Amino acid sequence: MGNQLLKGKKGIVFGALDERSIAWITALKAVEEGAEIVLTNAPIALRMGKINELAAQCNNAPVIGADATSVEDLENLFTKAMEHFGGKVDFVLHSIGMSPNVRKGFAYTDTNYDNFLKTLDISALSFHKVMQTAFKLDAINEWGSVVALSYIAAQRTFPGYNDMAEAKALLESIARSFGYHYGVNKKVRVNTISQSPTVTTAGSGVSGFNAFLDYAEKMSPLGNASAEACANYCLTLFSDYTRMVTMQNLFHDGGFSFTGVSDAIIADIQKANS
Ligand SMILES: NC(=O)c1ccc[n+]([C@@H]2O[C@H](COP(=O)([O-])OP(=O)(O)OC[C@H]3O[C@@H](n4cnc5c(N)ncnc54)[C@H](O)[C@@H]3O)[C@@H](O)[C@H]2O)c1
Repeated sequence: MGNQLLKGKKGIVFGALDERSIAWITALKAVEEGAEIVLTNAPIALRMGKINELAAQCNNAPVIGADATSVEDLENLFTKAMEHFGGKVDFVLHSIGMSPNVRKGFAYTDTNYDNFLKTLDISALSFHKVMQTAFKLDAINEWGSVVALSYIAAQRTFPGYNDMAEAKALLESIARSFGYHYGVNKKVRVNTISQSPTVTTAGSGVSGFNAFLDYAEKMSPLGNASAEACANYCLTLFSDYTRMVTMQNLFHDGGFSFTGVSDAIIADIQKANS
């Protein structure tokens, strides 16, 4: 039943691909907390058909396809969502990421620039497109909340993350810039959550992911944050308890971002050297 933290709120959730997706878990929890939602994903992801299972578990939430790089698709999505709700929405989750360079195995130093532009369009510019579309259609209520998911490679170099690092840096910058305008004009807040590495389809695409997951676990005083914990954090940002938080990149990583080195990592190195 939850605590009805989001009772009466209406939201759009982008990016639920399968049970492991952060968006999938967030959608379930948002409904458990009393929200009504519309689910969306790229048409190709919808064809996999899994999202209908999620929709059924979310009080038969409507599923409206939208390629997040297409403004036309986004206009259709927001218009149909408002028709369905009979009014504006209160929250939006942007949980979208994809790099054709990572997927096709291009090294950062031998990048394919068409792929690079697609990475930026899908993983970052789409966030601007989502918000500009909502802004123009006046689709989000005052004190509404928009959240996107990021990763610490926006600030520090993680070689395997490839051109997604630039995408996340751009995503976080868009949150600040659009957050200003959305705040001033419509009292809507915009934030990114910088999440620990998490086992999902997008996450596992990063090279050496398992070793990396282990490293992050050992470096984080609280351990890696799970997808469930990330979903819970999203809900707090959709709730009325965080109304004055905006334009922030919020680390949700068990303390990884502020740890220089941990005893566990030192012990590993000592062991390897002995
Ligand atoms: N998994 C991790 O380790 C991790 C860590 C930090 C941040 N994140 C971020 O969390 C978000 C969600 O990823 P996830 O880990 O749940 O993986 P996921 O693969 O389950 O979700 C990624 C989603 O992006 C969608 N998508 C791709 N192209 C799209 C397009 N053109 N239009 C609309 N949707 C599109 C996919 O269909 C998929 O549903 C991403 O932004 C990712 O970068 C993930």
